[in-house]
Amino acid sequence: MREITGAVIEGSGSPVVIEELLLADPGPGEVLVRMTSAGVCHSDLHVRDGHWERQGPVVMGHEGAGIIEEVGPGLDPSAIGRPVALTWLAPCLRCRDCQRGRQWLCQSSPALRHAGLDGTPRVARADGQPVLSYLSIGTMSTAQVVPATAVVPMPDGVPPEVAALIGCGVSTGVGAVVKTAQVAAGDTVAIIGLGGVGLSCVMGALLAGARRIIAVDISRAKIDLAGTLGATHWVHADPANPAATVEAIKTAAGDGGPDFVFEAIGNPVTIAQSVAALPPGGTAVLVGLTRFGQLAQFEPFPFVDGGRRIIGSNYGSAVAAVDFPKYAEFYLAGRLPIDKLIDRRLALAEVEDAFDRLRSGSAARQMIMF
Ligand code: APR
Ligand code: ZN
Repeated sequence: MREITGAVIEGSGSPVVIEELLLADPGPGEVLVRMTSAGVCHSDLHVRDGHWERQGPVVMGHEGAGIIEEVGPGLDPSAIGRPVALTWLAPCLRCRDCQRGRQWLCQSSPALRHAGLDGTPRVARADGQPVLSYLSIGTMSTAQVVPATAVVPMPDGVPPEVAALIGCGVSTGVGAVVKTAQVAAGDTVAIIGLGGVGLSCVMGALLAGARRIIAVDISRAKIDLAGTLGATHWVHADPANPAATVEAIKTAAGDGGPDFVFEAIGNPVTIAQSVAALPPGGTAVLVGLTRFGQLAQFEPFPFVDGGRRIIGSNYGSAVAAVDFPKYAEFYLAGRLPIDKLIDRRLALAEVEDAFDRLRSGSAARQMIMF
């Protein structure tokens, strides 16, 4: 048992309170990670603002990196001291999807219970009240006990905040392009929404050899940042005129529209735009997550007639143990400039302020440093 400091919400829709908490020792199959960095992702904001119903109290955060400080009984102690990135969907490794190599679909992941491997919380308040850990990794805390399948060793030279970003935003965005959609060299690509996830789609499109990369956002600053990451064209979206944005995307792409449109917001209006901008044979890749219960619309006739496709991409089809070290190596080789996504480093106590900035759309990626 040790003392930690964590960012806790009482339940979805409640503000974050910084609390002193107690962390259990790692059990069998678990490791204790001292956190070095945690990202502030829009999915955290969905929980914080009550768009996604979640039980509490819960330690927030699902994008993070750290150093292994203790291992549970039976695990190799030589792992102690190793820097790791955390995956928010610790694979069970036993279900049909894990065994087929589709770990991003694991529905038996311990993460879905927001607790330890045995299903009970690893964190408690001083009075003994149990506290959940979001997706079993609750990265907005000084340390956590997590399933051993949630940690992936990082190569030397990868900064903590880059490793943390590989754990969610980068894998979600880059993977959507190179793994889920399998964009080929010479394809044209548009990305709607340039937060941490959309900017990672831009980097993925460059890595894949896309011929035109069209960056679309309502923020000029985000468009400029996308330009430094490889975007070749841009569309400054006017939310009051969605049809004009669609036309501008088609014009920028040429050939009737982009081969792929990535929607990285989770807004029914921009989801509809991503379908409307497609030429015959084009593919809309839905990466952004909507509020629970929200619907989106499109007209089926031209969609079917033109042989278009819509695909959902969860976690960039990530197999963490294979893909995280790969993205880290691309970073070290200068081919994924992940650090350029970071526009602010902050302390744990500033997380509510970070949520305000994210809500306003002005933040790229904000990283908590421990
Ligand atoms: N048209 C174009 N861009 C828009 C629009 C719009 N109508 N509305 C918002 N945006 C832009 C914002 O300006 C911002 O740059 O979308 C971007 C969203 O970025 P973030 O809020 O930083 O979100 P991010 O963390 O990247 O996550 C995006 O992916 O994983 C999911 O849950 C996550 O749904 C969220 C999405
Ligand atoms: Zn995330």
